Amino acid sequence: MIESISVKLDNPYRIVIGNNILENAGELIKNELPYKRFAIITDEIVSKLYLDKLECSLKKCGLECESIIIEGGEQNKNIKTVYDIYSLLSRKSITRGDCIIALGGGVVGDMAGFAASTYLRGISYIQIPTTLLAQVDSSIGGKTAVDIEEGKNLVGSFWQPSFVIIDTDTLNTLPECEFNSGMAEAIKSALIGDKELFEMFKKYDRSNINVKDVILKSIFVKKKYVEKDVFDNGERHILNFGHTIGHAVEKASGYELKHGEAVSIGMSAICSIGEIKGYTRKGIKDELNSILDKYSLSHNIANYKNDCIKFLNKDKKNRGGAIDAVFIDDVGEPFIKEIGLDELYVCVERL
Ligand SMILES: NC(=O)c1ccc[n+]([C@@H]2O[C@H](COP(=O)([O-])OP(=O)(O)OC[C@H]3O[C@@H](n4cnc5c(N)ncnc54)[C@H](O)[C@@H]3O)[C@@H](O)[C@H]2O)c1
Repeated sequence: MIESISVKLDNPYRIVIGNNILENAGELIKNELPYKRFAIITDEIVSKLYLDKLECSLKKCGLECESIIIEGGEQNKNIKTVYDIYSLLSRKSITRGDCIIALGGGVVGDMAGFAASTYLRGISYIQIPTTLLAQVDSSIGGKTAVDIEEGKNLVGSFWQPSFVIIDTDTLNTLPECEFNSGMAEAIKSALIGDKELFEMFKKYDRSNINVKDVILKSIFVKKKYVEKDVFDNGERHILNFGHTIGHAVEKASGYELKHGEAVSIGMSAICSIGEIKGYTRKGIKDELNSILDKYSLSHNIANYKNDCIKFLNKDKKNRGGAIDAVFIDDVGEPFIKEIGLDELYVCVERL
């Protein structure tokens, strides 16, 4: 069964979710959008697994496609890779009447989206996320970005996809550690916006949790904040729960930690700080940590503390030495509170 969710923005778009729907992608796209020619952007790993299937599905429906295979990994999420994408799009004569398809995880999605937003001053793109992280989070909401030496996602744009196709079967080939990393963002969604999902995480583990349900519920949380504040001027900051410290930890680890792994440490740290300061109900951090344990996600910041403090300074939301940090009062009750960086450093040091 295919589920469909609409993201209601000025340029609304649909997200469809089902199992084994990649082989029907051509038909789904043909029924949804007017484009006849596509540039598929994917990475080396995903191309071996799913590119043929997608190309065949498009061609079967009379749609033309070109493919661009980039080197994946966070270390390649930079302007150099995007430059290569621009060149290849141009050499393959992709025009504004054509459409990009991002086939892969969050790294491919963020870079293909950024390329789509800037190539020829902006062309349409479709997200076909193949990691759990991308399915529950990064493929929705239109944030695109690349990293620079000074920090993560510091260059980017808001550029909404025209369509999102989620084939849950692609998760069958995903390494366990990548699955777990994606779970971190779903756990974040539960903490900021869905008590029922949080209870599911407490009750079930990897062996018996309903993954499609996790994806659907997480998307609803994200969609709610994106629709309210598409350009991230206020309420959408809530989605950054755990990310301020998480991004700093990710950078401090030299990107050894996966995004979700770093966010797990960040979420646990901000719950600790919230409990110490009396903002957060006592006990949440322990409940969170035992859920993180089920997915082998660390909640120990010790190894990254010193470098993490250095990188906190570079956070995009740092305004004159203060930051809007996201705390939770209780599960599903997030709030934003300004905290001075000096105070945050002291709190992190004490963890
Ligand atoms: N734009 C947003 O709103 C947003 C939100 C959250 C995270 N992000 C970004 O997402 C990125 C992380 O994304 P990610 O965790 O998907 O990492 P990723 O894109 O690097 O994918 C992880 C690995 O899994 C492989 N892979 C992908 N799909 C596979 C499949 N089905 N089977 C086997 N292997 C597969 C990839 O080749 C890669 O090696 C970070 O750069 C982060 O900043 C963006």
